[in-house]
Amino acid sequence: MSEKMMRVALLCGGKSAEREVSLKSGNQVFQALDKSRYAITRYDPRDDLPRLARDADSIDVALIILHGRLGEDGTIQGFLDSLEIPYQGSGVLGSAIAINKIISKELYVQKEIPVAPYVVAERGKEVSDEKILKELGFPVVIKPEHEGSSIGLSIVRKIEDLQKALEKAWEFDARCLVEKFIEGIEVTGAVLGNEELEALPLVEIIPGKEYEFFDYEAKYTPGATKEICPARLSPEVTAKAQEYALRAHRALHCKGYSRTDMIVDGSDIYVLETNTIPGMTETSLYPQAAQAAGYSFSGLLDKLIELALHRS
Ligand SMILES: Nc1ncnc2c1ncn2[C@@H]1O[C@H](COP(=O)(O)OP(=O)(O)O)[C@@H](O)[C@H]1O
Ligand SMILES: [Mg+2]
Repeated sequence: MSEKMMRVALLCGGKSAEREVSLKSGNQVFQALDKSRYAITRYDPRDDLPRLARDADSIDVALIILHGRLGEDGTIQGFLDSLEIPYQGSGVLGSAIAINKIISKELYVQKEIPVAPYVVAERGKEVSDEKILKELGFPVVIKPEHEGSSIGLSIVRKIEDLQKALEKAWEFDARCLVEKFIEGIEVTGAVLGNEELEALPLVEIIPGKEYEFFDYEAKYTPGATKEICPARLSPEVTAKAQEYALRAHRALHCKGYSRTDMIVDGSDIYVLETNTIPGMTETSLYPQAAQAAGYSFSGLLDKLIELALHRS
């Protein structure tokens, strides 16, 4: 091994509901990383945390390719901080905030980032059908506080289906969001950088007609969803959505990179959520946006590693 090889720990797998997605991304990241620059060792946090701790002194940087709990929520970030291993993207604070859809919403609102009207519904506390009808109207979208990849999420079109959908969300989390359903064009805004943040071109997401929304299958079945980058929006709406992506990144204390999901209804934009470890297969949304900004997949990985090493 040459003197200058950087020793990279590639973390993928893990224990969350998105384990399979993580393994797939991890394989592609492994393929794409420049083997002339990096000596890569893989770790699956489900099994390999003791080995990672033992190896800490010989690791220069970690790439966290994990989604959901115990990967994207600040816990693995804290573990790596304790081991003094730098890693790409958000730290403990930003990760823990962004994984929580309710706290994220509260911060967006504080920073004047527009969100869909919502109500928080807590397990064990009755939420009346009439309250939801009066405050939001139907349809509504129900989301558990923490899950990603549309897990536990449902769209309720009829008032009589509300309680069943709440019960389903409560299987995942004690609190969930009940959100007004916004009909519009779905876009995602990728952001890249440390102090100097760059908003990458927006990606427009069009789930196939057979999908009610951008659900787990639409997300991960090849060809199920059409993506167009840059999104077909006016320059004014594009600039506004990119500005919201930057603002969301800062509002949630994200670092390095992030990807904010939004729905555009005419000239109105609603921010849904911010992902701190966006999907990382070569055809995932973030790499597509990066490609449109001139970064190849492996060039993007170089950039993320560089940002990880120079984070303040
Ligand atoms: N308020 C909403 N109105 C319409 N569609 C929504 C709304 N919230 C979520 N969706 C749909 O559900 C998908 C997943 O929601 P999101 O908030 O991005 O959570 P996650 O991606 O973590 O599951 C979105 O990509 C979108 O297709
Ligand atoms: Mg999303």
